[in-house]
Order: sequence, then structure tokens, then C-alpha cells
Amino acid sequence: MEGHTRGRITKDGIRIYEDGDFAGMQAAGALAARILDDVAALVEPGVTTATLDDFVRDQVEAAGATSATIGYKGYQHATCISVNHVVCHGIPGPKTLKDGDILNIDVTVIVDGWFGDTSRMYVAGQLSRKAERLVQVTHDALMKGIEAVKPGNTFGDIGHAIQAYVEANRMSVVRDFCGHGLGRVFHAPPNVLHYGRPGSGAVLEEGMFFTIEPMVNLGRPETKVLADEWTAVTRDKSLSAQFEHSIGVTATGADIFTLSPGGKFHPTWG
Ligand code: MF3
Ligand code: CO
Ligand code: CO
Repeated sequence: MEGHTRGRITKDGIRIYEDGDFAGMQAAGALAARILDDVAALVEPGVTTATLDDFVRDQVEAAGATSATIGYKGYQHATCISVNHVVCHGIPGPKTLKDGDILNIDVTVIVDGWFGDTSRMYVAGQLSRKAERLVQVTHDALMKGIEAVKPGNTFGDIGHAIQAYVEANRMSVVRDFCGHGLGRVFHAPPNVLHYGRPGSGAVLEEGMFFTIEPMVNLGRPETKVLADEWTAVTRDKSLSAQFEHSIGVTATGADIFTLSPGGKFHPTWG
């Protein structure tokens, strides 16, 4: 055992953090969320995704924090920016946004050793009717998942809440990517599936820290990864959306570490 790690590990390999650890996650989550608030002003037709990434990288640095993604498995950027039919892990670059594009910006920062991981949707210019519906259902699905978080419920309850809501809206949940435990590490057990059966999976306990980050497609759920070995797209080219929060399980529910300080979590708010 390393001296700086406290708390026990469950039989499912999930770390149970201490009460005092919530403050570290709150600080990391707040920075990530504030940066996602601030980048919103830059999102408009004609801007490149590299410009958005540069802004985020500079903000992380200015805060005295560290980007968790720069250097992670060879990744070179402070964000993933996933436009339209890109499901996740889109690489920022010279491509300019055009009117009506929807995009997810995903940022993970490290503050005093704690990881804050969050993503949300933005729109360049005018949101189309069908994109608006997708974004709304994806946002609401994340919140349904978070509502299922409390000690005694299971990870399957979270997945089921998300899947049931998405499918009732005739959209599909991506199976190929999931949420994850985090804390003093970026990715830890468990895999947080965004689909599942009620009562299945590990039981939630106070002190668990993890992300919920459903990806929802207007068409079929299948994805493929492009030749750059990062960019995941919908196989049928349908639009895809994602929202992500980092949360901690409390005695009665969830502490959302990555709430937007400016009330801008959804592209039509703030
Ligand atoms: N932030 C992503 C997540 O939600 C992971 C990005 S890893 C990267 O887990 F290398 F692609 F940036
Ligand atoms: Co994540
Ligand atoms: Co993320």
C-alpha cells in the first residue's frame, strides 16, 4: 500500500474515498466546468477546433493546473472535440465549424492530484430541430442516470435509467464507450455502462467517485474508430451527442463535482 492512498477497495476493485477527499474533487471539477463555461463564447461558425483547444490549454495552465489528456496514451491535446457524427475522442485541428454544427468539448484537469472530467454540447450558430432534440435527450439521459445514484442502488440501475429514457425517445445508446471510476487517477474501475438491467452490477457505496458520460445517436448505436486511432464516429453517419459529469456518491445521492458555475451546461442555457 502506498502511504498517500486512503480508504479501502471493494471486491469489484472500486476505491472508497474519505469524506475529506470530496473537497479535492470539487476543486478539480469546478475548474474543468469553469473552463467549459468560458470556451462557450468562442464557439461560432468559422472558428477552428484547434483554436478552442488552445484556449482550453491556456486556461488550464493559467489556473496552475495540469491537463490530464496531454501525453495520455500519446494524445497531444487538452480537449477532445467531437463534431456532428463524431461520437467521442475527436482530435482538435484546423477544420472550421460551420453554421448548425453541434460539438462536444471534453476536458480533464488535474488539480492537486485530483481529476476533474466533464464534457458538454455546444452549437455553432443555429441549432437545428433534430440536433436540438438529440442534445436535449442526451442531457436529460445523463441527469436520469445521476438521479439513480445513491447507496444501495447498483451501476445497472444507472445504465438502465439512461437506456430506458433514450430508447423511449427512439434514439440509441452507444455501447462501445463507457464512464469510469476516477479520483487520484484518470480511469479506474468500474466501467460505468450507459445501458443495463435494474439491480445488476456493483452496489453503489458512499465515497465512490466516477463519471457518467452517455453518448447517444440519432441512428444506430454502432461506432468505428478512424485511421488516426482516436476519432470514433457513428457507423451510419448519424448525429451523436454526449454530456459528462464527474460525481461522488454521498449518503443520500450524488455530489456533482462538475456543475457549471455559470449555469451554462446546456447549449441553450446561460
Ligand atoms: N475525457 C475522456 C473521458 O471522458 C478521455 C479522453 S482521453 C484522450 O474519459 F486521450 F482522448 F483525451
Ligand atoms: Co470520462
Ligand atoms: Co471526459
